[in-house]
Amino acid sequence: MFVAMIASECAPVAQAGGLGEVVLGLSRELSMRGDFVDIILPKYDGMRYDRIEYLSVAFDGLQVPWYQGTVPVTVWTGLVNERRCFFIDPHSPEGFFARPDLYGYDDDAMRFAFFSKAALEFLLASGRRPDVIHCHDWQTGMVPVLLYETYQRAGLYDQRVCYTIHNFAHQGITGPEVLRATGLGRPEHFLHPDRLGDPGNPGAVNLMKGGIVYANAVTTVSPHHAWEARHTEQGHGLGATLDVHAGKFSGVLNGIDYDVWNPEIDPFVPERYTPESVELKYGNKKILRDRFWLRQDYKPLVAYVGRLDRQKGVHLIRHALHRSLELGAQFVLLGTSPEPALQQEFERLRWELNDNPDCHIELGFSPELAHLIYAGADMVVVPSLFEPCGLAQLIALKYGTVPVVRHIGGLVDTVHDREHSGLPYEDRNGFTFHQPDEQGLDSALTRAIGLWWGYPEEFRRVMLHGMRQDHSWAGPGWSYVQIFDRIRHQ
Ligand code: GLC
Repeated sequence: MFVAMIASECAPVAQAGGLGEVVLGLSRELSMRGDFVDIILPKYDGMRYDRIEYLSVAFDGLQVPWYQGTVPVTVWTGLVNERRCFFIDPHSPEGFFARPDLYGYDDDAMRFAFFSKAALEFLLASGRRPDVIHCHDWQTGMVPVLLYETYQRAGLYDQRVCYTIHNFAHQGITGPEVLRATGLGRPEHFLHPDRLGDPGNPGAVNLMKGGIVYANAVTTVSPHHAWEARHTEQGHGLGATLDVHAGKFSGVLNGIDYDVWNPEIDPFVPERYTPESVELKYGNKKILRDRFWLRQDYKPLVAYVGRLDRQKGVHLIRHALHRSLELGAQFVLLGTSPEPALQQEFERLRWELNDNPDCHIELGFSPELAHLIYAGADMVVVPSLFEPCGLAQLIALKYGTVPVVRHIGGLVDTVHDREHSGLPYEDRNGFTFHQPDEQGLDSALTRAIGLWWGYPEEFRRVMLHGMRQDHSWAGPGWSYVQIFDRIRHQ
């Protein structure tokens, strides 16, 4: 099968969050299964060009219709982690991607509507005819709309679309101008509530809704989040649309790349270990403490690794830090905040705790340190307010680092409470709490730290249960192939 991935991110060259990991990890898995995958991305100025091999022009002089005229586009190609990528480089007066950041501009909706159209135009003009187009998040919601309204008639007759939503909080809500720019026109037709009309803002276009309505299959990144998006406020206004299209909507849990995240082979882990040699993990704990000037003592070590923003439950991360110290544990934090006020708040906290030998705050992003923390810590906390899938708990499980998480989204599908889960004992791999408040978090954290102090053998069993579970891309890869096969034969 030939799959074209159209996305706004791909690790490690252009990435703002988990989306980039999924695009790379899933593409890799599909290729290993024998499918043929092309990844189509914007050519951002701020990309990691040092991670692209053999960058060269693949197609010059592409003319992409835009408003009444056309925008000339050069399409580049190169290899990213051995995956074939194409980069859309528009020569538009606005310089759509000739900017330092991926997102955060007033014309984001226009930029990515253009990208969606240019990607289809490239497939058409270059003679590429994928069986399935797999596109992601609001940035590419226009792909199935434009395919069925415009490009099918022009020559992309047999292409089918799978649309995956990683985050319902960003939907690409914009004015009807985008209809004119992309050549769809007819605002009264497309703004209809059955099509692209935003449920909350009459007269506004919702790009993600377009993706849901027009795609052949729609997925989100975990089965539990698929349920939440339909039945709770987590659909951010799109629950009713998902209900109408329930027949083609499902949740497929993300995987992680075990070539990168695996304590048996991880080059950033000084003492490599397996479930059979898990005691070697404590060598890494010692090295981690030295690295962060923490005292060597017989105590548990709790960590948080990730972005510091509202979605991740910042107030609970702060609480977890204080509570861990009160319970006689050490705490390590690695992350940055996109919001200056939050970043300052954590800088203050770092300053206050500067002399504490049981706590270290590292405000930055360092893959090397992230690997060492997962290997050296005893527990990680993930107190997210919402979490469509989540990566931290999947990594932690593989590293025998017990997750203490909020019972929400993909965390429900992957972390099973040692005491309260209904699953067999061997499947229980962590601690969970329901309410996103301090008492909720305390209830789980106290149990986890209490088990570490009181019943170390039991704690180790929980670690091993997690390590033995399989969250590689093999399972999700198979699920996507089933979906692709189904829509191909529709
Ligand atoms: C988004 C979600 C996160 C998910 C990731 C990859 O960043 O917030 O939960 O893991 O996408 O699908």
